[in-house]
Amino acid sequence: MARRRQIYEGKAKILYEGPEPGTIIQYFKDDATAFNAQKKGTISGKGVLNNRISEHIFTLLGQIGVPTHFIRRLNMREQLVRQVEIVPIEVVVRNVAAGSLSKKLGIEEGTQLPRTLIEYCYKDDALGDPLVSEEHIACFGWATQEEMHDIADMAIRINDFMCGLFAGIGIRLIDFKLEFGRLYDGDYSRIILADEISPDGCRLWDMNTGEKLDKDRFRRDLGGEVEAYQEVARRLGLLPEGL
Ligand code: C5P
Repeated sequence: MARRRQIYEGKAKILYEGPEPGTIIQYFKDDATAFNAQKKGTISGKGVLNNRISEHIFTLLGQIGVPTHFIRRLNMREQLVRQVEIVPIEVVVRNVAAGSLSKKLGIEEGTQLPRTLIEYCYKDDALGDPLVSEEHIACFGWATQEEMHDIADMAIRINDFMCGLFAGIGIRLIDFKLEFGRLYDGDYSRIILADEISPDGCRLWDMNTGEKLDKDRFRRDLGGEVEAYQEVARRLGLLPEGL
């Protein structure tokens, strides 16, 4: 069989043309980057784990009525998704202070936020994905007001669901990043959840020990990256017992 046409290669994924029009294949790599790709490495087995974890979360979100790009998993490293036009905004949802928020505002990591905080970053590697306001988004036409309403609404619903999902397996959902896309139907488009949800783009802390079970293990040279991702998969019931 001829190799499919590659559409795009990102830091952690490759996108290939899908078997039917309007579909794409997402291939999950083991590559890890941090600090806008200034730090690079490989986490052996990460792609397989992220493919499974993201499949699981997107499927559950679909079941509660959140529209997503996910169609089905194809194999260990690939999933079939709907082709969308990515909205050039990274949506960060925060429940607890950590990472760039703690650094920027001098809030101790681990401080519970008084309410859920949604931040928007303009997706541009060369600029380092700068934090922007809804005013910037409206001013530069990156998304319409209606689209931003849908995005914020979905981000809150996803956060509520994921907080519960992770709390049930002894994990505190600190923060995470979402990406959305426009699904076209003729002249009309609607917003659906795209990209992935995995320990690459979430902060997940063990509720009892505070241990980090996410990409901060790589960012902060803590070691045990793959074991942490495996632990998340295991608690979600995605790995056979004893592995
Ligand atoms: O670095 P920062 O504290 O802003 O990250 C907030 C959350 O968004 C973290 O869970 C991080 O993994 C995620 N994130 C991401 N991709 C980015 C920036 C942040 O997945 N480019």
